[in-house]
Amino acid sequence: MLFEDAITVSTIVAIDGPAASGKSTTAKLVAQRLRFMHLDTGAMYRAVTLVCLESQLAPQESPQLTQLLADLDIQFKTTGADQCTLVDGRDVTMEIRSAEVTRQVSAFSALPEIRERLLDMQRRIGAAHDVVCEGRDIGTRVFPDARFKFYLVADLEVRAQRRLDELQLAGQQPSLAAIVEELRERDREDSTREHSPLRKAEDAIIIDTTGLTIEEQVDLIAAHVETRLQQGD
Ligand code: CDP
Repeated sequence: MLFEDAITVSTIVAIDGPAASGKSTTAKLVAQRLRFMHLDTGAMYRAVTLVCLESQLAPQESPQLTQLLADLDIQFKTTGADQCTLVDGRDVTMEIRSAEVTRQVSAFSALPEIRERLLDMQRRIGAAHDVVCEGRDIGTRVFPDARFKFYLVADLEVRAQRRLDELQLAGQQPSLAAIVEELRERDREDSTREHSPLRKAEDAIIIDTTGLTIEEQVDLIAAHVETRLQQGD
């Protein structure tokens, strides 16, 4: 038997897009519908950022950062419909959404050393599971051969309103103007950085979610994937 015969190639659905374009909610629900694993790479960048901030590291290369990355253990735990992010066994699901982590995450995500470490973890997960993977560089860098690629966009004001609703549900009271500014700045940092910037893969399908409900965008993506999987394309 040829060795290649024994290799299982997993199916990857890549979802990229700017901040608050609805990737997380969409990816989570599409994954549930397809019975795939949900891989939230933004949560991984947020988790590294949290640990760096706790260790009082600045977003720059240093021997301490190298050591921290060597020891880093990030896991996802699924309970029912919810997924928790664990760092060294500690549940950081809530903390990685704090305003401070959100403000600093793009600066840490721009560091090649951090990107290489997480890239390795992400590819290992993708090799072992069928995944719906969301982020900024999934279709371009992490899984350039992904079978399905989507790029979500939405007007800045609509994204800001969605993020405001989310934060208010979590008990925070930021202003809409402050969120517009934060999203604009993060998109600028993410798309202009040197390493793996936010970019649409040439073969990604663009979905403008400005006028869509979550159910509609989930249905669009899941139906597209299901149809092709059934056809064996
Ligand atoms: O949920 P939201 O769109 O606000 O952000 P996220 O997906 O949680 O990602 C947080 C940050 O992580 C982004 O602003 C990027 O700086 C970084 N990130 C990245 O560089 N590459 C990825 N594949 C995913 C996230």
